[in-house]
Amino acid sequence: MPFDIARTRAAYPALAEGHVHLDGAGGTQTAGPVIEAVAEAMRTAIGNRSAANLPGRRSLDLVDAARTAVADLVGAVPEGVVLGPSATALTYTLARTLGASWRPGDEVVVSRLDHDANVRPWIQAAEAAGATVRWAEFDGRTGELPAGQYADLVGERTRLVAVTAGSNAIGTVPDVAAIAKTAHAAGALVCVDGVHAVPHGPTDLATLGADFLVTSAYKWSGPHLAAMVADPARWERLRPAKLRPSSDAVPDRFEYGTPSFPLLAGVAAAVDHLAGLDPAATGRRRARLRTSLAAAQAYEEALLARLLDGLAGLPGVTVLGSPARRCPTVSFRLANLSPAATQEALGAAGLCLSSGDYYAYEYFRTLGLRDSGGAVRASIYHYNTAAEVDRLLAELDVLAGTGGRMAG
Ligand SMILES: Cc1ncc(COP(=O)(O)O)c(C=O)c1O
Repeated sequence: MPFDIARTRAAYPALAEGHVHLDGAGGTQTAGPVIEAVAEAMRTAIGNRSAANLPGRRSLDLVDAARTAVADLVGAVPEGVVLGPSATALTYTLARTLGASWRPGDEVVVSRLDHDANVRPWIQAAEAAGATVRWAEFDGRTGELPAGQYADLVGERTRLVAVTAGSNAIGTVPDVAAIAKTAHAAGALVCVDGVHAVPHGPTDLATLGADFLVTSAYKWSGPHLAAMVADPARWERLRPAKLRPSSDAVPDRFEYGTPSFPLLAGVAAAVDHLAGLDPAATGRRRARLRTSLAAAQAYEEALLARLLDGLAGLPGVTVLGSPARRCPTVSFRLANLSPAATQEALGAAGLCLSSGDYYAYEYFRTLGLRDSGGAVRASIYHYNTAAEVDRLLAELDVLAGTGGRMAG
């Protein structure tokens, strides 16, 4: 059955404003059921978590429901889901916790393709421990992150490999399973940044081979909250810095302060929304997520192909990288206009895209493009349409000074 784009778009109230949102990588618009769930949680009485009274039980239930939903989304168990304010904050917690046991001579492997949130926390934890940082390099032409290089990067002193499941700059989907296999053979742990990849297809923790997987709900129609997922047995072995009276249970032990209970209601609602993207999907939520996200992925991939074809036909536009497996995310530069000016001109025409390095700091630094403004990013999400892609291409055709050929 074809993806029902009209039904999908109707679920996002903000789309009624009329902007073209091609910046899912920066954050998606919020789904209506998420807004309702957050509002409902704010309308009802909630209190500090306690089984002693109804408001307290509601808060307990909201946390449980959010954990269960994220577990379904990535193929984990609720007891392994740590919730927090952002992927960055959660990765720092993990890096500090793991880094406390590292010793001089230990090694960590990070990649130049990753968002800085899965790079800098590891570098800083390594520095604090006197451990050594080793770098996985991407192919400058294709933007691939060759998995083969990890055989040389990983050794018996490697404690951790941090790698992305999908580049937020150019969409590259590295062979994380192969990288994890190499890491595990050497006894290293693997932390996978799933922030960009998770919204764009079914995810399975075990298939990825991730010991830790990080995802942010605001990249998949939900609120600005994130989760870090692992086997509960793995969490049991780790001791984060924490307050004396706060819970020492797993996974609560890794969460700081009082959770944003109403927003947690939005996390569960966002996962339910994703599970319902294909109305024909049946079974339990995990099964419906697989069906629905596969349908959304096929739809997004068709739009990506349309975008890449169109960009290839614009002489004044250079697309960065050409990875074979990719999320629907593309960075490009115009020969005659800076990325910031391009973003601004597109914004004036009602098209919302990002420009700069989008914190893919090492990627742009390695290419020598940071000082000249990085690039412009078009990032497709399941509520985008072919007409929106065509609108972007037509605007770029004019901006790139290629004479508006496409319009004619
Ligand atoms: C790939 C990737 N990783 C990590 C992050 C950081 O996520 P958060 O804003 O939840 O800290 C982002 C945000 O854009 C991202 O795109």
